[in-house]
Order: sequence, then structure tokens, then C-alpha cells
Amino acid sequence: MDDDGGEAFVPDSRDLRRLKAAATNCHGCGLYRAANQTVFGDGKKAARLMLVGEQPGDQEDKAGAPFVGPAGKLLQRALEAADIDRSEAYVTNAVKHFKFVRAERGKRRIHKKPVRSEIEACRPWLLAEIDAVEPDVVVCLGATAAQSLIGRDFRVTAHRGENHHLIPKLDVRCDPLVFATVHPSSILRGPADERERAFADLVTDLRSAISSCRLPR
Ligand code: URA
Ligand code: SF4
Repeated sequence: MDDDGGEAFVPDSRDLRRLKAAATNCHGCGLYRAANQTVFGDGKKAARLMLVGEQPGDQEDKAGAPFVGPAGKLLQRALEAADIDRSEAYVTNAVKHFKFVRAERGKRRIHKKPVRSEIEACRPWLLAEIDAVEPDVVVCLGATAAQSLIGRDFRVTAHRGENHHLIPKLDVRCDPLVFATVHPSSILRGPADERERAFADLVTDLRSAISSCRLPR
């Protein structure tokens, strides 16, 4: 089985360790070929808050863990500013393999956005994580995660910070609130004079998401 979606590789289990182990062998789309490894989600099994990025970057692909590079550092600062303890959350990505192109000269690997078919191929893994963790709130960091979970044509700029539900047809046993905000990398890539404002807006969105979690924090 190859390039036919991750579904066939996902065990019927709500055990995160089992899911993670199975994901190491996923050939559900072509992205496993060039990447070093599957980068599965990481965090607390009983997390009330799940954060979903786009896909692992260069450093995540080497480390085997999500959000450990520059975007992860910015995310960590935003979480701290919003009084959220990352170790209390579950952090993952919409797509579990790093997609990149090689720089013309040198070995640098440059991030390439996953396409819709790859996002959909990988979604069964994300849904399995949601089923296993049963979070109160899922925060989509950027358009890729939002398009995977809220809707194909979802626009973060128009609907950030609003609360949504998972796309109804998705096979998930729980019904978390789903928020979308910008991806931390968009702040790093954006104009320097807008960074402070963009960071503050991200913190506001994270605060509003956490305030919808059931348990007091
Ligand atoms: N960007 C993401 O979307 N996810 C990561 O894990 C790292 C960078
Ligand atoms: Fe499987 Fe997702 Fe990797 Fe594609 S990106 S091979 S669906 S784990």
C-alpha cells in the first residue's frame, strides 16, 4: 500500500504509544520517501488543549518531535504569554512528514507547503490523536490545520479566533471546539515592524481558546 492515504495504516486504538509506533511505517502518501522520519504528536494524553501545526520542519524531522525549531520557540513564548503550560497540552501537526525542496546549491532543505491530497492522506492520524486525547479545544495553527479540520476553503484571516466544530463527516468520537489562528512561522516570516502586533494577536487567540477548556487552569 502506498500513496493511498494513511487510513489503512492507522490501528483501531486510542493508545497514543501504539498509534505513534504504527505511524513510523506509514506510506499513506509520498512524503515518507524523502523525510527522515514520521514526526508524531507529543504531549499529555489527558490534555484539554490540542495544538495542531502544519507539518514538521527541518529540525523536527531530525529530532522526531513537533515544534522544536524556530517556530516552536516562538510558540513556546506565545504559550507562556498566554499562561499556558506546553506540557499540559498535546502538540501535533496536520501532516506528519516534512515536505521540502533542496536549495539549488548546498544541502539546505526548504519547507514546501503540503497539498490538499497530502493533508487529507494524513488526516486519519490527526483524527486518531483527537480520538485518543479527547481535548476540549483544538487550536489550528495556520491554514493547513484549519483546512484539514474545519473546512477546505477556510480562511484564517477572516475567521481567526472564532469557535468552530470539526467537519461533520469526520469519523471522530468527541466534539471539541476548534479555533484557528495564525501559524507561528508566519510571524517569523512577516515584516519585522508587524511582528510585535502579530505576536500579541496570537497570544490573544490562545488565551481565548484556553478559556473555553472545561477544567479550570
Ligand atoms: N511548523 C509546524 O507547523 N510544525 C512543526 O512541528 C514545526 C514547524
Ligand atoms: Fe503517512 Fe502522513 Fe507521512 Fe503521508 S505524511 S506518509 S499520510 S504519515
